[in-house]
Amino acid sequence: MSEIARIGVLRGMETTFPDALIANINKVATEKKLKVAAEFIMLGGTKMREPSGYKVIIDRISHEVAYYRAYLKNAVLGGTDVINNPFWWSADDKFFNYSLADKMGIPVPKTVILPHHQHPPNTTSESFRNLTFPLPWDQLFEYVGFPAFLKPFDGGGWRHVYKVESADDFFDRYNQTGDLCMVLQENINFEEYYRCYCINKKHVRIMQFDPGADPVNRYVKNPAPLNDKKAKQIEKYCVDICTALGYDLNTLEFAVRDGVPYAIDYMNPAPDCDYYSVTPPNFEWVVDKVTEMAIDRALHHQPYAGEFRWNQFLNGKESGTSKLRTAKKSTSNTE
Ligand SMILES: Nc1ncnc2c1ncn2[C@@H]1O[C@H](COP(=O)(O)OP(=O)(O)O)[C@@H](O)[C@H]1O
Ligand SMILES: [Mg+2]
Repeated sequence: MSEIARIGVLRGMETTFPDALIANINKVATEKKLKVAAEFIMLGGTKMREPSGYKVIIDRISHEVAYYRAYLKNAVLGGTDVINNPFWWSADDKFFNYSLADKMGIPVPKTVILPHHQHPPNTTSESFRNLTFPLPWDQLFEYVGFPAFLKPFDGGGWRHVYKVESADDFFDRYNQTGDLCMVLQENINFEEYYRCYCINKKHVRIMQFDPGADPVNRYVKNPAPLNDKKAKQIEKYCVDICTALGYDLNTLEFAVRDGVPYAIDYMNPAPDCDYYSVTPPNFEWVVDKVTEMAIDRALHHQPYAGEFRWNQFLNGKESGTSKLRTAKKSTSNTE
């Protein structure tokens, strides 16, 4: 009798999604008589090269807990398939992502990355001799325009995200950003806004989203159906971006201006999946799709292909989404 393929879940403060995911994986395994079982991982210090014992780990929290991130990298070395890839997640930032999407031909708002307002710990003005002084603010403002968004280059959860209306307004905010690394970005004055799940680089759920509403009403209930052409366009952007960045579980946000969907935020490798926030139909969809992916990966387990998709863009190529899809077909573990 072959052994049970185990799926482990690492969680933070959230409850509804990880609880439902584990219950659903075990329910599907029982119904379909699959040799798969899911559980929460329990840890108490990890020895180097200690095998995790899991075929697949779903990581919902290592961005907040360095110990978990180190544990997960060690687990990958032992052959575990970690969703999402902890190496790339450690390296990723939004500024790179905007440049990457632009290079892929996907519309993004004009964005600049700014030097920190305050010296990061253990640096002095001598550490910044490569910076021009004063900074050419007028050029940066002219490129981005006002209003604009000032936000961290690796943030999440709308922390330190500011809409600034003018240069004075910008400096008021920027002067309070301490040693955070911030981007300044063109405002997309949108007529519609969508947040999309993308699972396993192929399943996309487009959810109409109202960023101005109360947190409990942001996912629009009973939205009008999306025009087919626009839906296809957004789906393609989601799959291409997640393929390029190697994310198996992500949300991607698009602001639609004059009919054009601009990618605003697509570095959410532990996206909101809370029952009460995303609403029951979206919650059921994401639990089902992540269940399907985790079971498939656990049963047809292969170690990492060992390459990042975005490396194809590091050699001066301007646009290559078709090449990305070809690469995906030939290296994917799951298709
Ligand atoms: N360039 C932009 N144009 C229009 N709205 C934006 C822009 N950038 C951010 N926003 C608004 O601010 C919110 C938070 O910004 P986002 O980049 O998603 O940061 P976080 O990663 O913290 O969620 C977005 O959901 C959107 O409503
Ligand atoms: Mg966001």
